[in-house]
Amino acid sequence: MITKNLVLALCLVFFAGSSLTAQDFEYIGAAKCKMCHNKPATGEQYKIWSDGPHANAMKSLSNEKSMKYAKENGIADPTTDAKCVKCHSTFGSIDESVNLGIKITEGVSCESCHGPGSVYKSKTIMQNREKAIASGMIVPDQKTCEGCHNKENPFYKPFNFAEASKKIAHPNPAAQ
Ligand code: HEC
Ligand code: HEC
Ligand code: HEC
Ligand code: HEC
Repeated sequence: MITKNLVLALCLVFFAGSSLTAQDFEYIGAAKCKMCHNKPATGEQYKIWSDGPHANAMKSLSNEKSMKYAKENGIADPTTDAKCVKCHSTFGSIDESVNLGIKITEGVSCESCHGPGSVYKSKTIMQNREKAIASGMIVPDQKTCEGCHNKENPFYKPFNFAEASKKIAHPNPAAQ
């Protein structure tokens, strides 16, 4: 009996492991991506992102423009209000209680566009696009951007995908 139950239990574990769902992927934070994605020879993605608009998106929520808008619209603190934080950070779309690896101050982090990295971050998975996608990695497209670059943004500007992509591009010269 014991062996039968053990076999059954192992089968269940195996089955659960082979059918990972979105809930099984957790956010790990940009510092983890940095370990492998900050070398000039492969495109220093971390540095490019750090110097760009997305890594600094939370800072805008405490500038004069934000404070004025918040006052006029009854928002006590734009740096914590879901109405603003949902697009200026990775938060809003995720459950903070199970995603402690990422900080709100990271703004629109790597994983906002590439998906939660807890499973795909391993080198052998990362090197294989199919496996990486099966492990939660997203290859972002225009739709990914339009999740935030849309008219719900109080300071919306028309979004041109081709031009905007050039401004935040971080290609790997070694992979081309
Ligand atoms: C252990 C090292 C390692 C870590 C950690 C890591 N990566 Fe990678 N990643 C790689 C390698 C190796 C490749 C293959 C291409 C290359 O050499 O850059 C790659 C490729 C990629 C690609 C391109 C995949 C494709 O097929 O287009 C993306 C996007 C990416 N990584 C994002 C991330 C993000 C986001 C994180 C953090 C959540 C991360 N990586 C963490 C090593 C890593
Ligand atoms: C999670 C939300 C989110 C996603 C997804 C997102 N962005 Fe953004 N983006 C922002 C926010 C917020 C800002 C404003 C940053 C700031 O200055 O505070 C911004 C700013 C920018 C800017 C600088 C503004 C400008 O027009 O010069 C560019 C370029 C840009 N994003 C391109 C993209 C592209 C391309 C994609 C998709 C590949 C994308 N973004 C996906 C939220 C997002
Ligand atoms: C639907 C997503 C979204 C929401 C919600 C959102 N933002 Fe933004 N915000 C963006 C994007 C995208 C940009 C970059 C726009 C661009 O330049 O193309 C941006 C830009 C900004 C800027 C810079 C604008 C400039 O022209 O200098 C400020 C300030 C800002 N947002 C404040 C706020 C505040 C405050 C809230 C909450 C009341 C908020 N945002 C809610 C997506 C959003
Ligand atoms: C605003 C969205 C956005 C953010 C934030 C972002 N990326 Fe990307 N990333 C993209 C897009 C779009 C591509 C191009 C996808 C394609 O191949 O069409 C890309 C491509 C890549 C590639 C593949 C480059 C190549 O030429 O093979 C790597 C590696 C990568 N990103 C890593 C990162 C890392 C690490 C971070 C954070 C430090 C990050 N990205 C943040 C949107 C983003």
